Amino acid sequence: MSAYPVFDPASSLARPITDLTRLTFWLGFGVFLIVVLVLAYFMWRYRHRGADGEPGQVFGNTRDEVSWIVAAVLLVAFLLFMTVRTAAASSPSTAGGTPDIYVVAHQWYWEFRTPDGAVSSDELHLPVGQRVLLDLTSTDVIHDFSAPQLARKIDVIPGQHNRLWIEAARPGTFSGACNEFCGPQHAWMRFTVIAEPPAEYRAGQAARAAVAAVSNASASRGAQVFARVQCGACHGVRGQPSAFPHDGAVGPDLTHFASRRILAGGVLTNTPEHVQRWLRDTQGVKPGARMPTLPLSGTEISDLTTYLEALK
Ligand code: CUA
Repeated sequence: MSAYPVFDPASSLARPITDLTRLTFWLGFGVFLIVVLVLAYFMWRYRHRGADGEPGQVFGNTRDEVSWIVAAVLLVAFLLFMTVRTAAASSPSTAGGTPDIYVVAHQWYWEFRTPDGAVSSDELHLPVGQRVLLDLTSTDVIHDFSAPQLARKIDVIPGQHNRLWIEAARPGTFSGACNEFCGPQHAWMRFTVIAEPPAEYRAGQAARAAVAAVSNASASRGAQVFARVQCGACHGVRGQPSAFPHDGAVGPDLTHFASRRILAGGVLTNTPEHVQRWLRDTQGVKPGARMPTLPLSGTEISDLTTYLEALK
């Protein structure tokens, strides 16, 4: 990831916004420089020299006043023109398109669903070089989807389906975040965009669309804990028996938990130690999160972690 991602666009949809930001900055800087230089020159040119006495006072100058008003209006009109052009270039019409990925915002994590049945949390996978149409909605409050290197940002509103084109021109990992204050854990509502060459993307997508494969026999004790504690009341694990089979709309889908890089909107990276910490002290790690701190024993936490880390 770039140190200043906002100035390193990786998409023809984001580049015009970066260009406009630079243009606005340099134009503003130019105006600032002219004002400071003229001011400095006048201070020097008309400085007090010995017994000059009171200098002649001048009031009003129609020609000068008209000139700088016209110059300022032209400058602002130019910026308005560039802004309208940028808006058009960064948000092509989404009418009539079929969404490729459905984005659901929750307090406080992101859910990404594709029509082939794949669900991922806090991790958006994109094929490089293809414009992808997102359909965005929220289950609770207003959020804002922002991946500044790849697209403009857009509000995510409950009861409404907004649409956004996104594109990654090169492979890589790009950061995203919620850009609308949405409660105490707004800061931990981040996501990662992973852009891969189309063949790699398709292979990954097939794996993500598959049901969960538990690769570890010793995870079965954890699966029993999962069922007994009723984790399935909020979390879906496709292909695994659950006390409450449902679409996982409350908490993140855990089907391919082990392949995720971050947890709970980015508050932790996905390591066994962090999973244990999360299960031991959920509300301490992310106060206000919808998931309560569960009264689990050390053995249960360890078994659950083994189970979760086996969900490839
Ligand atoms: Cu969601 Cu801020």
